[in-house]
Parts: sequence; structure tokens; C-alpha cells
Amino acid sequence: MKPNLPPTFPEAFIERYASILGAVQLERILHGFDAKRQTWFRINLLRGTIDSAKVILIEDGVKFIMDEFLVDAGWVEAEDRESLLSSKAAQMGLIYVQGLASQLPVRFLDIHPGLSVLDLTAAPGSKTLQIAGLASLDDEIAAVELVRKRKFKLQDNLRRHGADHVRVFLQDGTKVWKYRPEYFDRVLLDAPCSSEGRFRLDDESSFSYWSPSKVKEMVRKQRRLLFSAVHALRPGGTLVYSTCAVSPDENEGAIEHILKSFEGCIKIDPIKFDAPERVEPVLKWRNKQLNDQVAGACRLVPSERMEGFFVCKMIKTDTSHPPTPGKRN
Ligand SMILES: C[S@@+](CC[C@H](N)C(=O)[O-])C[C@H]1O[C@@H](n2cnc3c(N)ncnc32)[C@H](O)[C@@H]1O
Repeated sequence: MKPNLPPTFPEAFIERYASILGAVQLERILHGFDAKRQTWFRINLLRGTIDSAKVILIEDGVKFIMDEFLVDAGWVEAEDRESLLSSKAAQMGLIYVQGLASQLPVRFLDIHPGLSVLDLTAAPGSKTLQIAGLASLDDEIAAVELVRKRKFKLQDNLRRHGADHVRVFLQDGTKVWKYRPEYFDRVLLDAPCSSEGRFRLDDESSFSYWSPSKVKEMVRKQRRLLFSAVHALRPGGTLVYSTCAVSPDENEGAIEHILKSFEGCIKIDPIKFDAPERVEPVLKWRNKQLNDQVAGACRLVPSERMEGFFVCKMIKTDTSHPPTPGKRN
């Protein structure tokens, strides 16, 4: 049974995803939009260790549980959110409040010291900080953001949490590959999207902007950014693409497009992650059958633990140069 929807909830959303995802998955998604969400946090390894943070949280009397898979992550119940936010650990920047789903892309990027890393759409910098915490201080980390105000927010966030060494660029990510072709060992594209996975039934502003044309507009942006991400990645490097969108156009469709455009240069590395929220990627819609490899992507429905999310990990197997923008973009 569907939860009670506010009268302003877009009917077009229901129609669209009932036909693409089916009634059962749509119902799960709608219940996820209604769920009381846990507050997840990540221990900021730039400021301390997992053990030191846990000790301070315990001293602060915060009732938290650490995750088994994401060993530097934990959560509190919705009603304990305030005690977490006002804790000494939060004030010291020793913990960083970041949703569970949002922590996954960097996890799959396999960051370790000695790599050059590009975060192509970085503000406000939750994932850049996560990358910086796993890399070493002298590694090259570049964070790119298009919107001036958000770039300042990103810089401030990085500074407050001990990541001043990250190089921040106010730039259009679609052009980065021109300055650094086949350069980075790792590229993260946490793309601008329709943010459907973040809808809350009790917050009209979370869905009031949504329309099918918004999805189309996002698809155009994502394709251009993906094109740049692939060209900026060195052969042998890893690209992780993520969105908090529900629409297959922005997720599986974007990956299908990139596999076609860069045939022979890019392959999917299937994501291993067991979670009750994980559902099969959409491999067929509007009579279009996608590449079998897309099955290795990770589609997550929203729940009390996380927002709706999509992550796909890709390896660059061969050079993509010289690029042919007209053809591939
Ligand atoms: C989903 S948010 C990124 C969130 C970020 N990864 C984090 O975890 O904090 C997408 C960001 O991409 C930025 N953006 C949109 N178009 C861009 C472009 N062409 N180049 C660079 N950044 C862009 C948006 O302003 C927004 O800050």
C-alpha cells in the first residue's frame, strides 16, 4: 500500500516510475520518502583516528552504532541527531555528518596513498573530504566546482575539516579533460541530478521543482560531465559515477551512453555491496535493452538508513585519445 501522498506530490512522477520501475519498487521508494531517517556520520580521519573519535563520542554520551562494512562510519537514531550535532566530536571536526549512501562512491573508488584524484563536481565537499582522509597529505587531489558561491562553501568546508591541501578550482567540469587529458588515477563524478532520491513527503520544497523536463536537462549535463571524466582519466584508472536520482535516464541510461561512446576503452567493474536497499539495475525500458555490464551497477532505494542512490564503478581499459567531441559528447 502506498503511503499518503501530499496533494502537491507530482502525479507525473508516480506515472513515470510505475511504468518504468513497476508498482512494487515504486511503493518501496515512496515509503522510503516517508521514512524517519537515521543520521549517519563519518569519522574524519584528517582530524583523528576511529578509536579516538569513538572515545570522545562515548564521553559525550552520544548513543551511536558503528557500521560493520564502512568501518569509519556510524549512525544515531533520528531523535539523537541533536546530541550528535552538538557533541564535542562534531565541534572539533572529528566527525562529519554524511548520509550512508553518500559515503559509498568514495568507498568504491579504492583510494590509497600515492594517487592523483579528481573530484569533478565537488561542492560542498563531503566526498572530497572523504577522499582526502584516505589519501596522504602530499597526494594531488583536485576539486572542481562550477558555481562560485558553492566553491567558497567547498573551500570553507575543506579548511574547517583539515583538508587545506586539496586544490580547489572554480571551473566548468566539462572542460577539465582539455587541461589534464588522461591524467588522473581516480575520477569521481558525483553528478548534478534531479535529486529524486532525496524527496521527503513532509517537505514540499524537496519535490516541487521536479518535472520530466528537469530529468532531461540533467541527462544533458551528466553526459557532458561523463565525457570529460573519461577523458581526464588515465588508462588503467578508475571512474566512479553516482547520483541521488531514481530515473534510469540519469543512471543506467547515462552508463549505457558512456559504454557505447567509449566502446573498447571503458568497462564496468561490478560493485560488491550487500544491502537490503539494493535492487536490480534497470536493464530494459522503453523497449531498449541495455548492455549486460550495467547489471554491475548499484541501485539503492530510499529507506530509514539512506536516500535513494545509484553508483557505478568503471575501469578505463584503453586510451580514449584523440577525443572526438562531436561524435562522443
Ligand atoms: C551532487 S552535487 C556534488 C556533491 C558533492 N560531491 C558532495 O558530496 O559534497 C553536484 C555539484 O556539481 C556542481 N556542478 C554542476 N555542474 C557542474 C559543472 N559543469 N562543473 C563542475 N561542477 C558542476 C553543482 O554546483 C553541485 O555543487
